Amino acid sequence: MSGKLLTIVLLGLGLVNASPIVKRSVATDITTITSDVQKLDSDVTGWDGSLLTALPLLSDVTTIKDDINTAITDTNSSSAFSSSDSTTVTNEIVALQPIIATTLNDLVAKASDVSAIGFTSTVQSNLEDLKTLADQLTAALDSKVTSSDASSIETAATAIDSSFASAISAY
Ligand SMILES: *[C@@H]1O[C@H](CO)[C@@H](O)[C@H](O)[C@H]1NC(C)=O
Repeated sequence: MSGKLLTIVLLGLGLVNASPIVKRSVATDITTITSDVQKLDSDVTGWDGSLLTALPLLSDVTTIKDDINTAITDTNSSSAFSSSDSTTVTNEIVALQPIIATTLNDLVAKASDVSAIGFTSTVQSNLEDLKTLADQLTAALDSKVTSSDASSIETAATAIDSSFASAISAY
């Protein structure tokens, strides 16, 4: 093979390798989780206490679980975040924490309605699952962000945990 032909072949291979790969970003994953939680909160506050209208709430929770799992997988498969990605993701988690706290408070306010339709243990076990997933996500992020951002994530994670713990005990 002539040198020139080899160069062309290698360039061709290079172009194939350089073809755009759609890569989900962790920042986008957390944006999605934030809007999922906001949807759950608005569905919880708008819930009329009936069994029929409780079903979309369970579907909101399933969506949140799936999207947290996606974020964990993407975080794990990512290399250490650049300092700007680290800041973006950390700010998102810090902003998400009070949204989670509000949502859980709103859910606790519906505890007697949930009990009336016999869903107390369902809600409790979903809250336990979500708490575990939130812990896994914050731990995964902790290992990829810069060390100063890691302490902000840990502070948010502690607050998120305590919101879950009080919601679980209220149920
Ligand atoms: C992510 O990484 C952690 C720590 O290595 C591991 O325990 C966990 O199972 C991983 N989760 C996923 C979904 O890849």
